[in-house]
Amino acid sequence: MAKRLVISASPRAMGKCARAAKDLAKIIEKVYPHDFVEILRLSELDIHYCTGCNTCEADHECFMEDGMQTVLASLETTDVLYIVSPIYFAGPPANYKAMLDRFQPFFWTWEAGKPRRPAVLIALGDGGDPYGYDPLIACTSSALSVAGFELIQSYAYIDASSADIAAELADIILPDEV
Ligand SMILES: Cc1cc2nc3c(=O)[nH]c(=O)nc-3n(C[C@H](O)[C@H](O)[C@H](O)COP(=O)(O)O)c2cc1C
Repeated sequence: MAKRLVISASPRAMGKCARAAKDLAKIIEKVYPHDFVEILRLSELDIHYCTGCNTCEADHECFMEDGMQTVLASLETTDVLYIVSPIYFAGPPANYKAMLDRFQPFFWTWEAGKPRRPAVLIALGDGGDPYGYDPLIACTSSALSVAGFELIQSYAYIDASSADIAAELADIILPDEV
């Protein structure tokens, strides 16, 4: 039995990402009925941004105690990760970037070439910014890699209704655990 974690990365509790995360969890449950599926909503977690003090270089953990402990505890037991994030000016929203930056303790201990667990990013946008969403993918890939995950696939739905997103999600790749 694998654990599959869906993170809704939007600061909005009732927006498109929250809805898509819920719909995705239902799809995963259908495809993998024996797996455990958990949803974490960053809108419910207070995660302070990294201050760059780098005390984690020696301590291998952050001195701040906040919602990040919930994320880290859940990630530790996660086999496959799915992140549903809004696109903010081509990149991640500040609360999600704060979560990614708090992976810095992993940076000091990660080893290149170690097997990494699969992750999938679903990016949601409205308005079709001409600058696209590559920065969101790059920030996600970079931080996830030190945390032991590999972003194997990303999908973007721009100007799509929640119903359309739900229909599209049925076709995305749901990777097996490694
Ligand atoms: C500050 C801000 C910046 C945004 N920048 C973009 C963008 O660059 N590209 C895009 O397609 N949508 C952009 N959007 C729209 C959101 O990504 C979109 O509405 C998304 O569905 C919000 O997710 P939510 O409903 O879960 O909060 C932006 C929205 C905000 C508030």
